[in-house]
Amino acid sequence: MNVLIAYHSDYGNTQKMASAIAAGINVSQSGAQIVLKSAAETGLDDLIHADIILFGTSVHMGSMAWPMKKLIDQAGKLWMDGSLEGKVGGVFATGGGFGGAGGGVEQTMISLYSNFLEHGMIVIGFPKSLPGYADGGLQWGPYGRTGNHEGMPSGISDTALAAARSYGAHLSETAARIIAD
Ligand SMILES: Cc1cc2nc3c(=O)[nH]c(=O)nc-3n(C[C@H](O)[C@H](O)[C@H](O)COP(=O)(O)O)c2cc1C
Repeated sequence: MNVLIAYHSDYGNTQKMASAIAAGINVSQSGAQIVLKSAAETGLDDLIHADIILFGTSVHMGSMAWPMKKLIDQAGKLWMDGSLEGKVGGVFATGGGFGGAGGGVEQTMISLYSNFLEHGMIVIGFPKSLPGYADGGLQWGPYGRTGNHEGMPSGISDTALAAARSYGAHLSETAARIIAD
């Protein structure tokens, strides 16, 4: 099983979530080949080669960071020939978190899913029964709040990283069943 985790991270928080998801996949699927790349480094061949694609981004001004959007727009070429159809997708995000969940995190994650569905991919959310959901989960996927109540950076919490690991395990286990069928 080939897994691509493509993310945008300026200050390392989203990158830590990407690594935690990879750790969760490793625990559940020991033979998985996992590629972790920044969105800027990710090429269309990386997308084509993957069975599972995860996109993660920090929230920028209420939506995804532009390098992630650039990758999505470049991958529009793949929509033409349907080469991502049937692949399994998942998403994750971090945000400063004003207002509790953060300004725009849900829209950001839904927007990533919207693109996956446009390509004909199968998407897998984050069920509330899973470990970590209560502290670091949204139904769309794991989310890390990285700002305090003064709007200052406070780093990503261990609970958010635990949710990310849990999601990685769930996504890869579910994908393995789908791919096997
Ligand atoms: C240009 C910019 C815009 C941002 N806009 C938002 C926002 O709209 N909502 C939010 O919750 N956080 C916002 N943030 C905060 C980041 O999403 C947050 O600090 C994130 O965890 C950074 O992730 P990183 O360490 O992976 O770069 C913004 C940060 C930057 C740099």
